[in-house]
Order: sequence, then structure tokens, then C-alpha cells
Amino acid sequence: MIAKESLPRVAYAMMNTVHEEEVELLQKLESALNQNPLNVLQVDEVLSELLAHTRVHFSNEERLMQEVSFPAMMMHQGEHLRVLNEMKRIVSHWEQTRDPDVVREYFLGTLTEWLMLHITTMDTVTAQFIAMHKGE
Ligand SMILES: [Fe+2]
Ligand SMILES: [Fe+2]
Repeated sequence: MIAKESLPRVAYAMMNTVHEEEVELLQKLESALNQNPLNVLQVDEVLSELLAHTRVHFSNEERLMQEVSFPAMMMHQGEHLRVLNEMKRIVSHWEQTRDPDVVREYFLGTLTEWLMLHITTMDTVTAQFIAMHKGE
């Protein structure tokens, strides 16, 4: 799992705060999944927190992009939508199967790797543009 301190920083402070919160929730999910015996309700709870936070995370960036008319907004937004749908699919798979391995593999593997890459590419470029046009 990634440490908050090793998260790539972007040029717009509010986005960094949200990214740190997201990592905290991923760490919370990891602890929940590591419990033996597994507490299904606790995993449910962290997953719904994570989904809710991701929705806010993405819509917040989309609102900022709209405010400054960021040229690559559609591409960035499309990537958010793709990942949010993927997360929802994994959560409903979990609700049907209660298989923690799929949750672990996706959230602590695929999604975590995606998040790091997304922050260093799309979020970095977007934050630079926002900072330039909003001056914060
Ligand atoms: Fe982001
Ligand atoms: Fe983003």
C-alpha cells in the first residue's frame, strides 16, 4: 500500500488534500480486509465510504475544469467515469459473492496503480492549468 507521503503532489492544493483522503480510505480498506475473521459489514462500510469519496473527488475536479474551461476536460472526465463504473462493478461483485480477494486485488492493486498514474499524468496537467487560471 502507498504511504500518503509518497503521493505525487499536484499544483492545486485542494486536489492534494482529496488525494490524501483517498489514500487514507484505501488504507482503511486494507486494514478491514486484513481482519480475521473477516467483518463483512465493516468492508461494506469502507467500500461505500470509498465510493462516496471518489464521486466527490472526481466531480470536484470536473467542476474546477469547467470553471477554467480546461481543453482536455472530456478526456479527463471520461477516465473518471470509466474508473467509477469499474469500482461500482467490483463493489456489486463483492455484494453478491463476498469474495475479499477480488476486492483486494482491484482496490489495492489495479485501482491504486491507476490512481498513482492518473495523478502523475492527467491530474498534474489539469492542476497546472487550474492554478494558472485561478491563481491558487
Ligand atoms: Fe484526482
Ligand atoms: Fe482526475
